Amino acid sequence: MTTYAGRLRLGVNIDHVATVRNARGGAYPDPLRAAKLAEEAGADGITAHLREDRRHISDADIDGLMEVLSVPLNFEMAATDEMQKIALRHKPHAVCIVPEKREERTTEGGLEVAREENKLAHFIAPLREAGCRVSIFIAADPRQIEAAHRIGAEVIELHTGAYCDFHAEGKFSERDEELEKMRAMSIMAHELGLEVHAGHGLTYDTVTPVAQFPEVMELNIGHFIIGEAIFRGLQPAIGEMRRLMDEARA
Ligand code: PXP
Repeated sequence: MTTYAGRLRLGVNIDHVATVRNARGGAYPDPLRAAKLAEEAGADGITAHLREDRRHISDADIDGLMEVLSVPLNFEMAATDEMQKIALRHKPHAVCIVPEKREERTTEGGLEVAREENKLAHFIAPLREAGCRVSIFIAADPRQIEAAHRIGAEVIELHTGAYCDFHAEGKFSERDEELEKMRAMSIMAHELGLEVHAGHGLTYDTVTPVAQFPEVMELNIGHFIIGEAIFRGLQPAIGEMRRLMDEARA
């Protein structure tokens, strides 16, 4: 496996290939085929979220990804006993703990680490012992970052959803405020020794300022890339994101 020291990594989230497949209950489009194409297009990792209600990725998809991938799998999951068992069976490269509510359309906010500190510390300990890099998906909030550090997480993933929503709604001063918060939080997390990732809702229009944070080591991007693939194909859609990330970093 190639490692890219200093290079901003792109994790391609393939959940919504499974969403389209599940709309008809059949076997296509196949998320594993998308994952292999993403690898060939330069994805540094593949991200997949096994939700409690299995609305997109299935258990069989995770089995298959573990078998076929040559890049690391970032396994997104809620902090439940069921998911912990699945993660411990597969021991993926990384486990990203996300909040999950049945009624939400997507992962709406960051994890509440500060209030659940003890519980989460116990929850992630066996995952770390199994060799998984534990990442915590959080909002740009110093309380959450300090708590993520205290529970022993190695990585935080900053939730870029609010920043992207403000951009889409044309609320540019709120967008820029959120960006500044994320900038400050990525510096703070880096100084605590945490590796910083970011993701959620990123598009060609919003990726550049986040990719420019020198502390950010990885972006996880899914929905926009899968949507864009309808128009230009999966590999060109990924290639353009990669180009923008490299340009931002140059
Ligand atoms: N990072 C995390 C932790 C997520 O939960 C998601 C959505 O599943 C993403 C990144 C990717 O978000 P999007 O699909 O909006 O690009």
